[in-house]
Formats: sequence, structure tokens, C-alpha cells
Amino acid sequence: MPLMILAHPNIQQSAANRTIVEELKKSNIELEIRDIYNLNPNYNIDVIAEQEALLRHDFIILQYPMYWFNMPAILKVWFDQVFTYQFAYGSKGYKLKNKKLLPSLTVGQPERNFKLDEYSTRMDSLLDPIRKSVEYSKMNYIEPVILYEIATVYDVENVTGNTNSEIIEKAKIHSKTLQAAIQRYDKN
Ligand SMILES: Cc1cc2nc3c(=O)[nH]c(=O)nc-3n(C[C@H](O)[C@H](O)[C@H](O)COP(=O)(O)O)c2cc1C
Repeated sequence: MPLMILAHPNIQQSAANRTIVEELKKSNIELEIRDIYNLNPNYNIDVIAEQEALLRHDFIILQYPMYWFNMPAILKVWFDQVFTYQFAYGSKGYKLKNKKLLPSLTVGQPERNFKLDEYSTRMDSLLDPIRKSVEYSKMNYIEPVILYEIATVYDVENVTGNTNSEIIEKAKIHSKTLQAAIQRYDKN
């Protein structure tokens, strides 16, 4: 059974991440979902509880919205405090070795805004800190599932707007893609 680390600082106001999670809950996929923002108030991470949760699962999904071309602060604090010496690495560490980790993120801007050229995207370098952290911990990085262009119509120029129902429709498709990834990677 996979573990989903949900990192959203305002899940009640969320359209995309909330729909993704609700759709997964409605599906017949079994997974543990940890809303780390609400489980760890004031960024006070319960390190033992978070580490124990990671140890219970072999497939971990990070579900979060892109904030300032990065992960939300709660997810960074979670990495800093949970991926510790002698747990994630070190002579008695590497406790997450061989587990799989898949980033699943929602992004306001369209995919074309990240294109460098026909073949490469800046998203790869933006996700590199996660990829490198996963590799450093001897885990396996699974190619991310990314939901682009979900800014509302009120967002900045250069962004194509979406209505709330369009965002929800896209998020449902994203959730289906995640379900397929879970079926593919959770057993292998
Ligand atoms: C603080 C903040 C920073 C954001 N930074 C970015 C960004 O750097 N690039 C981008 O494409 N979208 C950015 N967005 C848009 C969010 O990624 C988008 O609103 C979010 O993925 C929607 O998910 P939700 O409906 O679950 O909140 C930002 C939004 C907020 C609130």
C-alpha cells in the first residue's frame, strides 16, 4: 500500500490537490494519506511519527502544489527534519533504501512556460533537489506526474486561466494517472 505525503498549507481552499486526494479516496486503491501540514501544526514536525510512516510503506507519493518554483515550506521542513543522519543516510542509515518515491505536483503555469527547447524542460532542474535527495537516500526516483496550467482566470498574464470546474476536471484525470502509477509501481 502506498503512502501519500500531502503537503498543502490550505487544503480547504485547494481545488486541484483536494480533488486529487478525494478522487483517490473514492477509488478502490488502498493508500495511507498523511496531510503533513495539519498533522504537524506550526511546522512542528513529529519526526518519529513521520519516519515510522515512511518505514511502513515501499512506495511514497509526494502530493503538493508548486510554490515559487519549489515545494511548499512544510514539505521542505519535512525533508530537513525527517530525512536525518542515521535514518535516511549514514553508517546505520539508509532506512529508506530501495523504496520508491514519486513527486506528484500541481502547477499554475502552462507546460510551455517551462520549455527550454524542443527536448528539454526547466521542470527537470526544478525537481532536481527531490531527485538528488531520493538518490542520496538510495531510494528510487519515479518520474513525476505533473498537472500544469491550473491557475484560475485571475492569475498573472502569460497564464491561461481556468474555471474552477475545469481545474476539477483536470485534477480528476491527474488522479487517474496516479492510480495507474500506483498499480504499476506498488507491487514491483
Ligand atoms: C504562494 C504561491 C506560489 C506559487 N508559485 C507558483 C510558481 O512558482 N509557479 C507556478 O506555475 N504556479 C505557482 N503557484 C500556483 C500554484 O501552483 C497553484 O495555484 C496550485 O498548484 C493550485 O493547487 P490547489 O488548487 O490545490 O491549491 C503559486 C501559488 C501560490 C499560492
